[in-house]
Amino acid sequence: MPLQGKKILLCVTGSIAVYKSALFVRLLVKSGAEVKVIMTKGAQDFVTPLTFATLSKNKTFTDLFHEGSWENHVMLARWADAMLIAPASCNTIAKMAHGLCDNLLLAVYLSSKCPVLIAPAMDEDMWHNPATKKNIQILKQNGNEFLPVNKGELASGLHGEGRMAEPEEMLSYLEGFFAREKRLTGKKALVTAGPTYEALDPVRFIGNHSSGKMGVAIAEELLKNGAEVHLILGPSSIDVDKKIKTKKVTSGQEMYEATMDDFKSYDIIVMAAAVADYAPKNKSQQKIKKECHGFSLELIKTKDILFEAGKIKSDAQTLVGFALETENERENAIKKLSKKNADLIVLNSLNDEGAGFGGDTNKITIFDKNKKEYNFPAKTKKEVASDIINTIIQYRNE
Ligand code: CTP
Repeated sequence: MPLQGKKILLCVTGSIAVYKSALFVRLLVKSGAEVKVIMTKGAQDFVTPLTFATLSKNKTFTDLFHEGSWENHVMLARWADAMLIAPASCNTIAKMAHGLCDNLLLAVYLSSKCPVLIAPAMDEDMWHNPATKKNIQILKQNGNEFLPVNKGELASGLHGEGRMAEPEEMLSYLEGFFAREKRLTGKKALVTAGPTYEALDPVRFIGNHSSGKMGVAIAEELLKNGAEVHLILGPSSIDVDKKIKTKKVTSGQEMYEATMDDFKSYDIIVMAAAVADYAPKNKSQQKIKKECHGFSLELIKTKDILFEAGKIKSDAQTLVGFALETENERENAIKKLSKKNADLIVLNSLNDEGAGFGGDTNKITIFDKNKKEYNFPAKTKKEVASDIINTIIQYRNE
């Protein structure tokens, strides 16, 4: 029973989906969780505080001030193992994203140290509005986690995306959340991600098309599983959760040095970066002027970071590499696994639909050094990250 004894602070905002949250409280209590409920004024237009007080067997909290004294929002926030905002209206999501504090829910949210999960509920057009998308992005970057919304009939009578998850779905998400959180608690992970730029002169470089999305998704998944995560990120415009300790680098040499710094302290190392294999032998201090005739460039090999890491890694450390192949994919990936002394290698084949740079999907096969092979269909990079982390955990537990 992953929810037995867990302290859940359920925050309810103004949406017709409030009725589902009442059922959800019953399920939580049945699962052995201790539940306290905060309601905004908007929520109370749909359901009374008495409903939630009766179901949760606790007082319902509604105001910053109560009978002449203030409600201790800091202690409420500290009490909770997790805070779940369900239903989270568009308005509350916007206020949370911008740090507003005009009700008890927001004061508790701003004081919270526990994980915050958000189950949005709104009409499809509001859900797809760019302002809502930006606010959700901000909250994700701040480390909050969103439950997926459902498609179906909406309060407007329209049919579309934006329905809050069903009570049973929220319960199993929360159970999964607590089970998952424990798996890598106390472990330290390092991820390399993005491209590297090898300078030719102050304005030009040799680089590649890596976006860094896959590596960042892996870092976020490790974080969700409770690990302390360090990310070394090449030039990339991608936003990273602030709970991930991120070091930005430009060249392969900088990425190598950052990786080797305290390398022995990591339990899991995932090298998802597309490091340039060659760099100009000489970097011109001034912009290189064009000549009438051709231009030749002398390149030298960069350090293979994965290979260097494989040389010094201990048996307790799990080292994971990537292989991007266009031919003889399996053979090349397995060769890379043993040559670089990795524990696992994640193969992307550019021949597979949905795999490769830039896009939001990827198709992978994972090989481990015990000759096990794990096949996966094309999925979003977030889902692929979850498959990779599950495989790493399975490998470490074998
Ligand atoms: N890698 C690295 N440092 C490099 C090159 C690659 O750490 N200088 C890592 C990548 O992060 C990836 C793995 O090695 O995890 C595989 O990289 P890839 O470029 O596919 O393989 P290479 O070893 O460079 O071999 P080739 O280019 O011949 O396929």
